[in-house]
Amino acid sequence: MTQKMTIPFSRPSSRIQAVAPSATKLMAQRAAGIENCVSLGQGVPGFSPPPHVVQAVQKMLTDNPTISRYTLQNGMPELRERLSKYLQDEKGVEADPDHEICVTVGGMEALLASILAVVDPGDEVLLPSPTYASYTEQVLLAGGVPVFVPLNSGWGLDLASLEAAITKNTRAILLCNPGNPTGNVYSAAEIHALCALAVANNIVLIIDEAYDYIVYDDTKILNPLSLDEYRNHVIAIGSLSKKYCLTGWRVGWVAAARQWMEHITKVHDAATICAPTISQCAALAALNGDQQWVATCCRKLAEKKEVCCSRLDRLTPHFSYVTPKGAFYVMAKYHFSSETSHQTANRLLDETGVITVPGGSFGQGGESHLRLSFGGETAEIHESFDRIERWLGV
Ligand SMILES: Cc1ncc(COP(=O)(O)O)c(C=O)c1O
Repeated sequence: MTQKMTIPFSRPSSRIQAVAPSATKLMAQRAAGIENCVSLGQGVPGFSPPPHVVQAVQKMLTDNPTISRYTLQNGMPELRERLSKYLQDEKGVEADPDHEICVTVGGMEALLASILAVVDPGDEVLLPSPTYASYTEQVLLAGGVPVFVPLNSGWGLDLASLEAAITKNTRAILLCNPGNPTGNVYSAAEIHALCALAVANNIVLIIDEAYDYIVYDDTKILNPLSLDEYRNHVIAIGSLSKKYCLTGWRVGWVAAARQWMEHITKVHDAATICAPTISQCAALAALNGDQQWVATCCRKLAEKKEVCCSRLDRLTPHFSYVTPKGAFYVMAKYHFSSETSHQTANRLLDETGVITVPGGSFGQGGESHLRLSFGGETAEIHESFDRIERWLGV
């Protein structure tokens, strides 16, 4: 065999070396090598997109010659106008479509652009935790320091601990409402208190409402950008991914005061130029289409939540959990093992083919839990729990 000459790699940036690959995607990758897996893992809704969106896009592909071109950096004017109306009607947020809204490559890019516009190297970002794992990765990418502030035992905010965690280096608080991975929904009082904390300490509240459409009780989600007195300290992010089952289309938005948006748009332009035109067309069709479609999905998700929770109840005392109030996740605390959540999730996958996400990957407070997504097919949820029951010998 001939010996290949090995040329050493050049050094990757220290910024990227600080970032760990996402556990959600690692589990999916690991599962790809295992036959006959079933998933309670990645948060992908198990419905097809609304037929009217698919039809509108098909028509645009043939009728609209500009569909293959870039749009303006901040997005198609008609879409920004529609988003502005949506923000006003649904959230009481006033956002000028020309200067205060930017259409992005999913909520993910909106988050990264906002973090890069706000966070300098060494700045601290408070993450009520367990938190969406990508926040941690994005803060690290910006050279920032993630500071995990544990949620209370019911997954509510611990405002005293948040206040105590603020230092002269704190730049932002990052929160999703409803919460991934906890399924918690934060009350208007909690959002008011966070805003007051942000203004008093001159820091920014970045609020991510990727799951705003799916709340299981009558709690109304308060978007802090609707509160005039706090407006300059808030950046609001949203996504069409989950609501309209368009995860692969990659389209979301960010709204903020013009002063922030100027900077956010610079990042967005440098990284992407604009969100894909075809996806912006899909977004417009989704927002203009029959919203009954979304209501039907929410009803089905509420049924799936019941299935997931009743199957977990059957597994007491092996698991305990806080009933989710929104989104389609539950953090299931396991009591059958003292292994780490990574070891437990991997063993469960290897021995049963059930994909979950280790709770420890969502930061402090997530250890000893598995995050279960019940967004998929009901039959798959049942099959996953059947396997877990056999595995535990229940
Ligand atoms: C809390 C949260 N924010 C943002 C995103 C990213 O969504 P998008 O597909 O719009 O980039 C996700 C995706 O799972 C999420 O769970």
